[in-house]
Amino acid sequence: MDLVIARALHVLAVVIWIGGVAMATTVVLPAARRGDLGPDRLKAFQAIERRFVWQARTAVVIVGLTGLYMVAQLDLWSRFQSLDFWWMHAMVCVWLLFAFFLFVAEPLIVHRYLHKWAASAPDVALARMHRAHWVLLVLVLITVFGAVAGSHGWSIF
Ligand code: HEM
Repeated sequence: MDLVIARALHVLAVVIWIGGVAMATTVVLPAARRGDLGPDRLKAFQAIERRFVWQARTAVVIVGLTGLYMVAQLDLWSRFQSLDFWWMHAMVCVWLLFAFFLFVAEPLIVHRYLHKWAASAPDVALARMHRAHWVLLVLVLITVFGAVAGSHGWSIF
């Protein structure tokens, strides 16, 4: 029963987190870049991102804890030695990438430097942020596809 709940919480947190990334990439950033959210495009985007960042941080913590719990309880460590389970590596890599960004880079680097740079060149800043969001979104979608298909028996190797 505890494993069922861990899996359900894992997927729930993934839905909230990745849903937010998809929304930012395909809806908010294009609207901000076109000026549909008001004249101060960067401010509008940041107002939305600032509120979402706490949801994303909470979701990342839940995904990490429930994921580790499942690996430990099901003793799945050996999967990390096989390429068959590439999606297990993908989950951990994507998690590390986002955890680093949300807990280290965002408060330390983005707040200090990116805001100044973005204020002087908002077009370039928004375009780069949009590209970075697309790269992350594609990576997480491949990971979700691989994790659902892989954990239900699909293998490409
Ligand atoms: C520390 C990071 C993570 C660990 C240790 C972890 C671990 C796990 C484990 C052990 C499973 C169950 C596998 C099985 O039943 O065979 C699983 C399932 C899954 N994980 Fe993760 N995960 C992590 C991060 C992520 C991330 C970042 C995503 C999304 C991008 C993700 C998405 C999923 C999905 C969609 C499933 C399939 C659920 C299902 O269909 O039953 N996980 N994860």
